[in-house]
Amino acid sequence: MRIAVYPGSFDPITIGHLDILRRALSIFDKVIVLIAINPKKKNVFSVEERIKIIQEATKDLSGVEVDSTDGLTVNYAKKAGAVALIRGLRAVTDFEYEFQLSAANTFADSSIETVFFMSRKETTFISSSTINELYEGAIDISPLVPTAVLEAYKRKKK
Ligand code: COA
Repeated sequence: MRIAVYPGSFDPITIGHLDILRRALSIFDKVIVLIAINPKKKNVFSVEERIKIIQEATKDLSGVEVDSTDGLTVNYAKKAGAVALIRGLRAVTDFEYEFQLSAANTFADSSIETVFFMSRKETTFISSSTINELYEGAIDISPLVPTAVLEAYKRKKK
């Protein structure tokens, strides 16, 4: 059983994340989508809301688990028996940050590899803050997020 951990803020999850997740599932038997709790980031959705959204958005995919951690991703991965971390690269600008992050993770635990997936060109401009801004500006974001995200925004408005 080859397990990978896909860490991120997922505030909210987008079709870009889901594309990376599907592709990771074609290589790994199980992928744990891990919400890494970052108290420095101002979040739109709570951790519990994000977990529910991701569970709903991935209910038709087999081999997916959703969890959260306030510790190091590599420590979580080790405990979960994972052999790899998954990250998506959207543009050259992501590279420097990802290079540094993977080096820090390798320093912390050299037995866990980071596997990168190149984003599809249709999703390269998407980020969670872009989605939140477009939504705030009353732009239809339905092509960019799963239905579970749209429903979560509606619940927030009430
Ligand atoms: N499609 C769409 N958007 C994507 C994307 C994709 N394929 N890949 C990344 N993004 C966006 C995210 O939506 C996010 O947007 P935002 O900044 O507007 O919210 C942005 O790119 C950053 O990506 P994200 O994956 O959420 O990473 P992050 O920078 O918030 O967090 C962690 C990176 C969580 C992986 C890292 O901080 C971590 O592992 N933290 C735990 C502590 C730790 O182990 N630190 C490392 C050792 S020091």
